[in-house]
Amino acid sequence: MIAEKLAPLKIGSLVLANPLILAPLSGISNLPFRLLAKEQGCALVFTEMVSAEGLVRNRKAMGWLLKSSPEERPLGVQLFGSNPGSMAAAAKIVEEAGAAIVDLNMGCPVRKVVNGGSGAALLKDPRKAGEIMDAVRKALSIPLSVKIRTGWDEKNLNYLEIGRIAENCGVDALTLHGRTRRQGYSCKADWQAIAEAKSRLRIPVIGNGDLTSPEAIGHFFALTGADGGMIGRGALGNPWIFRQTLRFFQGALPEPPTLEEKEKTILRHFRMIVDSRGEENGVREFRKHLLWYTRGLRGSSEFRSQAAQWVKYSEVIRRVEEYFEKIRKVSFSS
Ligand SMILES: Cc1cc2nc3c(=O)[nH]c(=O)nc-3n(C[C@H](O)[C@H](O)[C@H](O)COP(=O)(O)O)c2cc1C
Repeated sequence: MIAEKLAPLKIGSLVLANPLILAPLSGISNLPFRLLAKEQGCALVFTEMVSAEGLVRNRKAMGWLLKSSPEERPLGVQLFGSNPGSMAAAAKIVEEAGAAIVDLNMGCPVRKVVNGGSGAALLKDPRKAGEIMDAVRKALSIPLSVKIRTGWDEKNLNYLEIGRIAENCGVDALTLHGRTRRQGYSCKADWQAIAEAKSRLRIPVIGNGDLTSPEAIGHFFALTGADGGMIGRGALGNPWIFRQTLRFFQGALPEPPTLEEKEKTILRHFRMIVDSRGEENGVREFRKHLLWYTRGLRGSSEFRSQAAQWVKYSEVIRRVEEYFEKIRKVSFSS
């Protein structure tokens, strides 16, 4: 069964042309990555999670995480923290910086975050989770969402309880990643839980987990009836997933990127990262993207195995151009 149509998504006063959203991805969903997703039709992009405490204490040092440009708007900013006052103050800063929506991270499984009482730890403390939602809601005039997991572990699935708290606090949407904290990023995401949240809650429910292809996204919407779909790992090295999904729902033929388009996008993405992070950090940061972009491409194993040794901007550019030149020739001759 496949859903037939993608409906626009309304989160409070924010109206999105389609329900496809880019997930907050730490170390990944910075401005260059978000711009590429946006250009391919993604309706709403999120920053990676930003420490509320850090933002309040040293706005200048954290400011680069909020760096944005008009082309990517509307921009969502995700905050994490455990103190209602700091979360509210940080949300205010984010609103003043021009964000269209604030999201509260209540799902991060990383030990350092959880041990500080933030992220998924809040699923174990619904009262504190509610205090944070309440404080942030009162501080903000823009829409507010909360991103959670299904629970701490399989014995403590409390997504409906947290969802109801969110509703009562005036939160505008709930994003549900269909895994528990214990499950991390493995095993199949529980779309049934997302379907249940959708049928039981009044606020829009955005589902997340394993939305990795247009077909999967078609099944996801049909099964869950969710108001939105948030794409994480499916967009790594593949910003075209948004365009392809929109085309899929229009009944049009899929339009995979050509080799030329792939090469152009890689080079542009790389240039944007180096422009904002400098040569040394930029080259280091881009390596993982290079591996994602070239996954499964013809003869890419040699190229990929050498990528860790490249340290200069010009060298990466040359290697990418040579590699694509080579595979274009092979494609034409075979
Ligand atoms: C490298 C990485 C970084 C992530 N960073 C964040 C983050 O900053 N905030 C957040 O809410 N979730 C974060 N997530 C979780 C994703 O947003 C998403 O919930 C998860 O990957 C499941 O979706 P997927 O199956 O589409 O990848 C991260 C996931 C990965 C793999």
